Amino acid sequence: MSEKRKVILDCDPGHDDAISIILAASSDRIQIEGITTVAGNVEVEKTTLNALKVCDLLGLNVPVARGAEQPLVKVREFAPDIHGYSGLDGPQLPKVPQKKVIDQHAGDFIIERLLASDGEITLVPTGPLTNIALALQKEPAIAEKIREIVLMGGGTFGNWTPTAEFNIYVDAEAAELVFNSGVPVTMFGLDVTHQAITTPAILDRIALIGSPISEFVGELLAYFTKTYKEVFGFEGAPIHDACTVAYLIDESIFEFETVRVDIETKGEFTYGTTCVDRLHVTGRGANVKFARGIDQEKFWGLLLSALKE
Ligand code: BDR
Ligand code: CA
Repeated sequence: MSEKRKVILDCDPGHDDAISIILAASSDRIQIEGITTVAGNVEVEKTTLNALKVCDLLGLNVPVARGAEQPLVKVREFAPDIHGYSGLDGPQLPKVPQKKVIDQHAGDFIIERLLASDGEITLVPTGPLTNIALALQKEPAIAEKIREIVLMGGGTFGNWTPTAEFNIYVDAEAAELVFNSGVPVTMFGLDVTHQAITTPAILDRIALIGSPISEFVGELLAYFTKTYKEVFGFEGAPIHDACTVAYLIDESIFEFETVRVDIETKGEFTYGTTCVDRLHVTGRGANVKFARGIDQEKFWGLLLSALKE
């Protein structure tokens, strides 16, 4: 068997973040070194509780560290219309998780783990990039230790403003720092995650599995599908965040191009936009492996078999 990828999942659960954690936990190709939480879909208190509850459900024994409560510069913004008041509305979960957070800030946890590593750890941010930026600011030496940053964010169009995607918009200053850090960045933006949209047939196949985890995912997706219909008029829900972990399990699911991506932090209408130079017009060196296509059969096959585990 090929080597296990060591990952730190930096997230704001979040329906699709939760599915991403489940996919990672189910795979014998992934070793979760820890989960770090950030303010994004809802406040960090809530995203942390949600991460702990997902760990309880999975019996997942990994450290969970709570992180940034607000972006580097900007005022906080949340997405309750998409993820509900709790950030994980839909399934009935115990109010108080059994699992507890560790007594260390997410940024410090990331720094400590990376400095102690031999450069084999991959960071997987699926929320705003605040924790990663804070860690890079506090200890720039970690940049050389990060194997890869595999993130969900951005795209050539937006879902929060006409041009900006939520994760990047919420903390564009953090995104700017991360994209310019020199660390290899693999980006799953809306161009590809909107190709990973549930269909009624997929929901039926998940319902047929009949395990506690598949039921939980079914309930998450029922809620997520409802809000995506209400807010965007979509017929299904994009499983944005799980694309990152799917890539780490099976790279062949996705198609990529290597491009320059710069982050807009000043524009009146374009704050938080990822400027993706697909035609190489800037002449600036490429800094991102940009996912543009997905093999849907392989993607859903992977997710369904994970849920059957
Ligand atoms: C991203 O924003 C959040 O709503 C999702 O969890 C995902 O990470 C999609 O724009
Ligand atoms: Ca997320």
